Amino acid sequence: MRPEFQARRTALLVGASRGLGYAMAEELLKRDWNVVGTVRGHAHSRLHELSQRSSGRVEIEAIDITMPDQIAGLRDRLAGRRLDMLFVNAGVTNNPEETIGEVSTEEFIRVMVTNALSPMRVVEGLHRLVAEEGTIGVMSSGQGSVSNNTMGKRELYRGSKAALNMFMRSFAARHCADRRALVLMAPGWVRTELGGPDARLTIEESVPSLVGTLLAVHGQPGLQYLDYLGRRVPW
Ligand SMILES: NC(=O)c1ccc[n+]([C@@H]2O[C@H](COP(=O)([O-])OP(=O)(O)OC[C@H]3O[C@@H](n4cnc5c(N)ncnc54)[C@H](OP(=O)(O)O)[C@@H]3O)[C@@H](O)[C@H]2O)c1
Repeated sequence: MRPEFQARRTALLVGASRGLGYAMAEELLKRDWNVVGTVRGHAHSRLHELSQRSSGRVEIEAIDITMPDQIAGLRDRLAGRRLDMLFVNAGVTNNPEETIGEVSTEEFIRVMVTNALSPMRVVEGLHRLVAEEGTIGVMSSGQGSVSNNTMGKRELYRGSKAALNMFMRSFAARHCADRRALVLMAPGWVRTELGGPDARLTIEESVPSLVGTLLAVHGQPGLQYLDYLGRRVPW
């Protein structure tokens, strides 16, 4: 391993092929971090191009977070590595207009398994690789706030992120003596494939601040639910 690779801090960014995850990889690189970024399957992605331009500072791993054997495989491949940050960004949505009564069971399972169960399986499976004073983060959403839900809409998606928040609180409660920072991040409504063209923010308006917020909580033990500007989101 090259010396410059050892000196810099390293983040494992799960779900970095495109959208917010890809932009986070780019931003971390600018801020002098090394990145292990994950994609699904073998398709070529923007992350591969970033990796080629990165002089070895962006490594690529493949993982579908809904596949427990792939999480275990990644853990085994990274065994012995020390991560300064683990951040699980991967997530999906469904038709935002469907009320919870209209959602099919299949769709319910797909969104809940991807957004709530699988990120926690990644956290539970890989957290031991994270340094004692490192950061473990998961991409939540402002839509996961129970108290801010005064409008309905995106009901399944909201429920999946609220469940994710609750599971992360359980993880935090079980690890309350831990010195690591734990973060649930709300990136704002951003123009990506998931956010859609009408979203309020561009990726450039969200991600640099979001990464700045993540880096600012580094070294602060305990769980925080924060937006991209570092403001507390009500649970
Ligand atoms: N955009 C917004 O307005 C907004 C707001 C609040 C929260 N968020 C959250 O931010 C995160 C990223 O969203 P985005 O807007 O960047 O969406 P996006 O452009 O659709 O990107 C989603 C990312 O998640 C990955 N992914 C999805 N399912 C996966 C799986 N089973 N295993 C591994 N990777 C998987 C995708 O990989 P592939 O390329 O392989 O599909 C892609 O890298 C999500 O958790 C989302 O809920 C977004």
